[in-house]
Amino acid sequence: MKKNGLLPEHIAIIMDGNGRWARQKKLLRIKGHEAGAEAVREITRECAKKDIKQLTLYAFSQENWKRPKREINLLMKLLKDFLIGERGEIRENNIRLTAIGRVWELPDFVQRELSISMEQSKMNTGMVLCLALNYGGRSEIIDATKKIAEELKEGKLKLEEITEESFKKYLYMPDMSDPDLLIRTGGEMRVSNFLLWEISYAELWVTDTYWPDFRKSHLEDALAEYANRERRYGGLKE
Ligand code: FPP
Repeated sequence: MKKNGLLPEHIAIIMDGNGRWARQKKLLRIKGHEAGAEAVREITRECAKKDIKQLTLYAFSQENWKRPKREINLLMKLLKDFLIGERGEIRENNIRLTAIGRVWELPDFVQRELSISMEQSKMNTGMVLCLALNYGGRSEIIDATKKIAEELKEGKLKLEEITEESFKKYLYMPDMSDPDLLIRTGGEMRVSNFLLWEISYAELWVTDTYWPDFRKSHLEDALAEYANRERRYGGLKE
């Protein structure tokens, strides 16, 4: 059987289990998110070192607005501190920071630091670190559809020009390649409205490990399994 044998170009991660990690340790939920931010640092550095082309992290979903206001505020503050605190690391590792999602609905203080980090790193040529913020997969498809409808109405686009390839250009990151590997921590077997269009053929890897405990060794396990998977994209074995 032909094994894939390769490193994924694009890894996407659903970072779940921060709350359960904290509860297990009798800590406040925010402590779980803080520990989760540490894991983000380590995994980002590892992926950049390994020549992964893109790492996309589900940092805040549209559904996360349903959480208590206090937790949301603390998460936003943590995000701001991360954006400011990681600028040196991003520069040293030649990382280009980007974001997907309805970022224009985030608090101003987050948007401001996000655009500074994006601007400062836009010429970097190494790994792309893409933060999914106020992101929802269905919303992304709706937002793309609206842009397409607008262009159709204005006569800039013809109906027959709408294809899978051209549709992609209207998504939040038109130049992003589809994730090859989708990792979910915290054990749930769900996609949770993440990258619905883009993960059509992604290999899924789920671990019971909570995100704050996710380290280089877990990443290595995921990569080893990915290398052994056979990707057929609906075709037959060679
Ligand atoms: C899910 O855990 C995680 C989140 C909702 C937020 C993810 C945020 C971080 C990892 C930290 C900040 C991110 C960056 C980029 C600095 P959960 O609270 O749903 O866990 P549970 O399912 O155990 O309750």
